[in-house]
Amino acid sequence: MHNITLIPGDGIGPEITDAVTQIIKETGLEINWDIQSAGADVAIKEGTPLPKRVIDSVKKNKIALKAPVTTPIGKGFRSVNVQLRKELDLYANLRPCKNLPNIKTRFDNVDLIIVRENTEDLYAGIERQIDSETAESIKIITKKASDRICKFAFDYAVKNNRKTVTAVTKANICKLTDGLFLNCAREIAKKYPQIEFKEILVDNLCMQLVQNPEKFDVLVLPNLYGDIVSDLGAGLIGGLGVAQGANIGLDIAVFEPVHGSAPDIKGQNKANPTALLLSAIEMLKYIGEDTTAEKINAALLKTLSDPKNLTADLGGNASTTEFTKAVISNLNSF
Ligand code: NAI
Repeated sequence: MHNITLIPGDGIGPEITDAVTQIIKETGLEINWDIQSAGADVAIKEGTPLPKRVIDSVKKNKIALKAPVTTPIGKGFRSVNVQLRKELDLYANLRPCKNLPNIKTRFDNVDLIIVRENTEDLYAGIERQIDSETAESIKIITKKASDRICKFAFDYAVKNNRKTVTAVTKANICKLTDGLFLNCAREIAKKYPQIEFKEILVDNLCMQLVQNPEKFDVLVLPNLYGDIVSDLGAGLIGGLGVAQGANIGLDIAVFEPVHGSAPDIKGQNKANPTALLLSAIEMLKYIGEDTTAEKINAALLKTLSDPKNLTADLGGNASTTEFTKAVISNLNSF
């Protein structure tokens, strides 16, 4: 029996969480889900969108599956996602972007690993209104955080037989902050002679990714560029509905999709649970449940191979519940 914190989030979060927990339940794997709500509704009831009980639960269980939580834009409380990553020191945001068989995209050979620093940069949230016409935000980059994220990227490359790590910055403009990140990457790279090290400016990377994504392998980026480039990566493999992610710290990991709470399709039974399901599959591997993970993955790929099961984001007409039923029925064929 595994004890895992489950954060169903809001927007489409609860719908895709239901789908994924149903699928996992069907495999017979015993999980004791410690369900923890967070977000705007919780803020009204408990005075904060991220109560201490949520943090305590993840600290106790060491592992969580998390659906998206809405962040008010331009006002309101600080992002629950950013706070959670910071409070738990989940310093590495790992976002693999690999084509799924049968999902038609412009490219069919994308296999990128995006490693995003998760705790600092402009996400430090140090902003100030100077006067009614001027605001400023402080970009924090430290050697400690840059060293450990670059080390994470190289260790990942070694462990997973990848060939190249590319550091992505805008060090020509942000000479001190991105310059520090890049210098850390250069120094760490020297300790991994078996991995090729490359450097690229983020604007050039974006252009090259939309032309030749197959040229790239592992990318390591400060927080903001990592956030933006991972949505670009999601677009390369079929959109946000299929882009998985994980936030990893020293001994805690929170698995969550790249996408947000998709308020535009909330409650309409249209959301694609694939991104959360792929994140859950990685979580199962992380806790050593490889057989169940492989079984769900095979059922998912079989489901996606039939156009009648595709949700609207992938050009189909299937609802969230129809998609979920199809995965469950395919589970039984493995
Ligand atoms: P979003 O990712 O929620 O949606 C962007 C577009 O992708 C929308 O058209 C949406 O319908 C579609 N989409 C996203 N996931 C989908 C899925 N599973 N199936 C089908 N279509 C899907 O990004 P947006 O609109 O910028 O953000 C909405 C809210 O989510 C904001 O409050 C934002 O702060 C929050 N957010 C939360 C994240 C998290 O909890 N980790 C991550 C990103 C955003």
